[in-house]
Amino acid sequence: MPRAIVIVGSGGRLGAALLREWGARGEQVLGFDRASLDLGDFPAMHERLDPLDFDVLVNCAAQTNVDRCEREPEEAFRVNSSAVATLAEICARKKARCIHLSTDYVFDGTKGTPYDEDDAPNPLSQYGASKLGGERALLAVSDRHLAVRVSWVFGPDRASFVDQIIQRALEQDRVEAIADKVSVPTYTLDAARLLLALVDRPEIGGIMHLCNTGECTWQEYGQHALDCAAALGLPLRTRVVEPLKLADMKGFVARRPVYTPLSNAKFTELTGLTPRPWKESVEDYVRTTLAPRALSSTATANPDRPARSS
Ligand SMILES: NC(=O)c1ccc[n+]([C@@H]2O[C@H](COP(=O)([O-])OP(=O)(O)OC[C@H]3O[C@@H](n4cnc5c(N)ncnc54)[C@H](OP(=O)(O)O)[C@@H]3O)[C@@H](O)[C@H]2O)c1
Repeated sequence: MPRAIVIVGSGGRLGAALLREWGARGEQVLGFDRASLDLGDFPAMHERLDPLDFDVLVNCAAQTNVDRCEREPEEAFRVNSSAVATLAEICARKKARCIHLSTDYVFDGTKGTPYDEDDAPNPLSQYGASKLGGERALLAVSDRHLAVRVSWVFGPDRASFVDQIIQRALEQDRVEAIADKVSVPTYTLDAARLLLALVDRPEIGGIMHLCNTGECTWQEYGQHALDCAAALGLPLRTRVVEPLKLADMKGFVARRPVYTPLSNAKFTELTGLTPRPWKESVEDYVRTTLAPRALSSTATANPDRPARSS
């Protein structure tokens, strides 16, 4: 069915992927990045969005820097909570649906098993609290709106943990990652396909969890990325990710929850779709995006040396 989709936050990791992937599938999609729509400027939001005719608005924009949110909670709540209320109201007035992206950081991480949508949130940080505020503001406007919680987002449009760990292993003899914090990676290209199933189902409102399946620590996530990179012939200086403790991360300003895997059971029940395991998605991403990038920059840096090790 033809429908018009607006993507707010189209300059970010997930928003850019949705704009490109949905456009390639023939969806009528219009993106706003930060320069064209500032979620700190509510009158400007009305000015840009009120004149438009659309059926669904997907909000991927957020202040996502967890420590910055802790230091600057006013900005966090303005962008992650109050602006969401404004978007939700603009959509409701048009009878459009607002699909808003949220986070596993709304939970305190003490449950010990994967979180369902009905579990009580209890954020430990200003980021988590501001995102929870956004969900509540959204659903207070309309129960047709949908908050989709994702976790550990990675993909080709903006570097994240997986890009950084491979880059470090290409440059350094030792790499480390936290081994006592557990969550689930979410691949933006998988999310693009799976979120479209939610766009297709306007009767689904409320809260939904959506990530790849399984769970891992940051260390396991990084180790799998290095295993994939090594198998593809990347000239890594180390192939092992050493463990770090969350408590040793003295640079962290905000508290992080230690165990926040999200259950996809509700998503699967309602859509009939099961996201693939995170390991497959990471392998796909390393093979299709990171390895070609790394090999071409190695070849450029060393024109006389073959890029692949034997
Ligand atoms: N990244 C993760 O691991 C993760 C985990 C759980 C949940 N999530 C949620 O998933 C969603 C998408 O995350 P992502 O990884 O795509 O994040 P991202 O790459 O940081 O993208 C967020 C976008 O929002 C924009 N933005 C920030 N402040 C803004 C403002 N005042 N007005 C307009 N735009 C503004 C950013 O602009 P700039 O480009 O100028 O910074 C950026 O383009 C967010 O809701 C996030 O909370 C992310």
